[in-house]
Amino acid sequence: MSQQFDVVVIGGGPGGYVAAIRAAQLGFNTACVDAYKNPEGQPSLGGTCLNVGCIPSKALLQSSENFHAVQHDFAKHGITVDNAKIDIDTMIKRKEGIISKNANGIGFLFKKNKVANIHGLGSLKGRQGEKWVIEVTDNGAVVDTLEATHVIVATGSSPRPLPGVTVDNVKVLDNEGALAMTEVPKRLGVIGAGVIGLEMGSVWKRLGAEVTLLEAAPTFLGAADQQIAKEAFKTLTKDTGLDIQMGVKIGNITVGDEISVAYEKDGANQTLVVDKLIVSIGRVPNTAGLGAEAVGLQLDERGFVVVDDHCHANLPNVWAIGDVVRGPMLAHKASEEGVAVAERIAGQKPHVDFNTVPWVIYTSPEIAWVGKTEEQLKAEGVEYKKGTSSFVANGRALGLGHAQGTVKVLADAKTDRILGLHMIGPMVSELVSEGVVAMEFKASSEDIGRIIHAHPSLSEVVHEAALAADKRALHG
Ligand code: FAD
Ligand code: NAI
Repeated sequence: MSQQFDVVVIGGGPGGYVAAIRAAQLGFNTACVDAYKNPEGQPSLGGTCLNVGCIPSKALLQSSENFHAVQHDFAKHGITVDNAKIDIDTMIKRKEGIISKNANGIGFLFKKNKVANIHGLGSLKGRQGEKWVIEVTDNGAVVDTLEATHVIVATGSSPRPLPGVTVDNVKVLDNEGALAMTEVPKRLGVIGAGVIGLEMGSVWKRLGAEVTLLEAAPTFLGAADQQIAKEAFKTLTKDTGLDIQMGVKIGNITVGDEISVAYEKDGANQTLVVDKLIVSIGRVPNTAGLGAEAVGLQLDERGFVVVDDHCHANLPNVWAIGDVVRGPMLAHKASEEGVAVAERIAGQKPHVDFNTVPWVIYTSPEIAWVGKTEEQLKAEGVEYKKGTSSFVANGRALGLGHAQGTVKVLADAKTDRILGLHMIGPMVSELVSEGVVAMEFKASSEDIGRIIHAHPSLSEVVHEAALAADKRALHG
């Protein structure tokens, strides 16, 4: 006998688990089916983001930043620490502790909200009257059959493979392996200088590896505002010490004791020899095993589930959210879509504004933005004005020892409405929220300029950039 539900969510990442909680809060009898098992073979909720993505990467970024600070920054404060050492085992265990704490937390929230927590691979089997039938398998054996009025597909994404090389997570690593190395490699190669490459490259560089990134695109961080991207490139190569090679074409990769990566740059053939290689060239949607073909769930040519603006797929009462659908592959975007779908099922009229999805790259300094870049505004023919301000003289940044970076406010030339906020600097992952709020409330740069910002605080640089956009800079 099948278990009956109003809503079954397939996938327990930040899209799926949030959708399940919201659906349950709205009074639906809800189940969440998730297939992920941690390296110990135990089910662990939270998807890519919690288990092998956002959270563990930030844990390691912090550990490596602390180690770097002890070695390079503490002396400036008059603190000397002789022979600072890092125990990679302890660092990795700390990261795992954070994951299990949060994964257990999701399990607790499921209990609290009466979401049925079902472990296994969910597959759409067809319809039984008005209901969808979902089969759940674990290690190939059927463990459950569920029936649901609504299905929310939140199966996430996986690393995009690079033809000609096999990820074994021993020598050649994807994000899972990059987050679980047991020692610092002497020479680390990274294919793809995107978000994962830069974050993971920074971690292992700060711990002592020589890191070389090989990037196919000619432009560094092509999606970012290019003024900020150029400053980031300079800082990450000069200060962090990453060797970033742009515009390369990867050739043969041979894996032995050493890994040899042949590549072409500016017409010349070169070879990079490393001890470990991270492949981070983007991610692909997870739809294998979902039963999409069997039930006629429409996928696009790249394998994403095709959805409309409300995340509704081509089948009745089938929805899809997060990395498995169009749009940025970000945890907060997945969660917002999850909430919106649950509320739409409940008859509400939610809205997800893609123009105000914040982006953050957690390098040091951090890079963050929301809204349009200068390049986009130019391409769209929008007349804009801009104001920039620097962290160099900001009292709080100087006190922190991180007085480096820029904030740029872009506003409509006529109406002064904020169109984009771009920054590189200390803790800009937190500062970008001011831009998100301002844009959601359709604020002008004058609005930010007239709002009191605490002194001394990093947010004063946002204030000053907004004043500069209005030609009223006080410290510029
Ligand atoms: P996922 O988190 O991928 O979850 C999908 C879940 O569904 C997984 O548990 C999967 O095992 C399961 N599943 C798949 N198929 C089935 C099936 N048929 N049945 C049952 N279960 C299934 N984003 C940010 O916003 N900030 C960050 O700092 C950030 N850092 C990242 C760092 C790294 C190294 C990586 C790899 C990603 C990072 N991301 C970050 C991206 C973020 O992880 C994703 O955007 C987010 O996890 C997408 O959420 P999701 O719920 O759509 O899918
Ligand atoms: P990415 O899209 O950010 O970067 C991939 C890079 O690889 C691109 O610059 C691309 O030009 C390059 N590339 C592609 N093919 C190549 C090839 N054959 N040779 C050399 N370079 C090649 O993807 P990444 O870093 O894998 O991360 C996946 C996604 O995960 C990100 O797009 C982002 O959505 C999410 N993420 C978010 C984070 C955050 O929010 N802080 C952190 C890490 C990941």
